Amino acid sequence: MAQRRARIGDRITQWIEHRRSLDAPGHALGVSVSLPFRLMGRRGKDLRSLLHGTRYGHPLHPLLVTVPVGSWTASVLFDLLEGASDEPALRARAAADMTLGLGCLGAGAAVLTGLVDWQDTHGKARRVGVVHAATNATALGLFLGSLSLRRRGRRREARGVSRLGFATLFAGGYLGGHLAYRRRVGTDHADRGNAPFGFTPVLPATDLPENTPRRVEVDGVEVVLVRHEGAVSAFSDRCSHFGGPLSQGWVFDGGLVCPWHGSRYCLKSGDPLDGPATAPQPRFEVRERDGMIALRRPAPPGDPERVPVETLAPPAPAGEEGDAIHVLSLHHGLMRTLFDLVAATPPEGDARLAVLDELAGEMDMHEKIEHEIFYPAARRVTGMVPSAGAEHRQLADQLAILLTLDTASSEFDAHLRALRNAVEHHAGTEEREMFPAARSLGRTELRSLGRALADRLEDLRRARTQRLIRLGRQVALERGRGRLGRAINRGA
Ligand code: FES
Ligand SMILES: [Fe+2]
Ligand SMILES: [Fe+2]
Repeated sequence: MAQRRARIGDRITQWIEHRRSLDAPGHALGVSVSLPFRLMGRRGKDLRSLLHGTRYGHPLHPLLVTVPVGSWTASVLFDLLEGASDEPALRARAAADMTLGLGCLGAGAAVLTGLVDWQDTHGKARRVGVVHAATNATALGLFLGSLSLRRRGRRREARGVSRLGFATLFAGGYLGGHLAYRRRVGTDHADRGNAPFGFTPVLPATDLPENTPRRVEVDGVEVVLVRHEGAVSAFSDRCSHFGGPLSQGWVFDGGLVCPWHGSRYCLKSGDPLDGPATAPQPRFEVRERDGMIALRRPAPPGDPERVPVETLAPPAPAGEEGDAIHVLSLHHGLMRTLFDLVAATPPEGDARLAVLDELAGEMDMHEKIEHEIFYPAARRVTGMVPSAGAEHRQLADQLAILLTLDTASSEFDAHLRALRNAVEHHAGTEEREMFPAARSLGRTELRSLGRALADRLEDLRRARTQRLIRLGRQVALERGRGRLGRAINRGA
């Protein structure tokens, strides 16, 4: 019987995991959750890290859900006592109302932290997360309804609604458990299983330039090496957050940034400085001797000959003239040129802002056309689409921070470099891995996708130009009004 129940649960979660129809609401929810944080720039990123639990070293969401779950459970139990004799019934009634209210208050923090954690999920976990959030939001709505019924003295109905809320909460909890234990959302993905016992040389010291992460393997364990300000650090290559490849990340502000969701690990300690990661990245002891970098490992060295991603030049625009691969590769090239232009434009005056605006517009449009047209097709032939989608969100976050900075500041330059690295990683991975895989869609489909991409790009550009013209007119109008107003005042 228990087995049958388990199978029913699995069938339900599998059904949810395969519902592509959840992707659109998931996307809309993701955008509305991330927008306020993006508008806050750097402060938004810090706030998000706080909500993930990065500073605290543990995810906050599971901790905070105990408040509503515990309080609402107590409230439902107190409701059961209400039918007893008079004196205890009165006390039980007061306790039920109080714990119900407390649960509703605590739910706010749990919802917020849950949404922030969910934002970084993709694929099946993201779909289950949407249903988990909707179920728990329904439970919260029911408990709030029960609270309002109690205020109006309709206690019988209120008790019924609370029980319904409790059943809904159970369903939400089941899905939450599935996310944590099956889909490993919020669990540690770093490789911690291989304790080092003896130093093993892995790489000639001269092969590790400053600030260029490089992956090596030691006895099957993937390790990322980074030289920063002369000192070499070594970490497990798989990011503790979701297993992203840190060796394809970049160095920023004393930390190593993961290309998937932007966690930044301190190069000295491995502690996360920026979320979403909450667990420290496992470190290896490093020694440089006789021109070799050695890690403290008892096993023989693995494959030190791996070529770091940074040395791989992006291939020339692939594909046939006008097909999807060609259109997207050309657009990548345009973005690379715009990055160079922003960096080369003098920071004073409005010129740099104008190029930056152009770049931001092209990045937005690129994300849109890939998300709407290319990725849905590529999904059929490659498993890379979910992580590419996550990277798009991370790029949008980084861009949002850049847009809030003073273009003449050194902070702007550092963030511009970091964003360029992130775009290079993303576009490079598409060019080297996703586009070749997409060739199996066939020439006809790639050509029709190419036409659709080019048409949509043109439409988006036209709409953007019209928006800018409208905005320019509005600004001119405002200025005109200001002049007119001042003239009237002077006249008066
Ligand atoms: S995998 Fe998410 S930040 Fe690294
Ligand atoms: Fe992309
Ligand atoms: Fe792309």
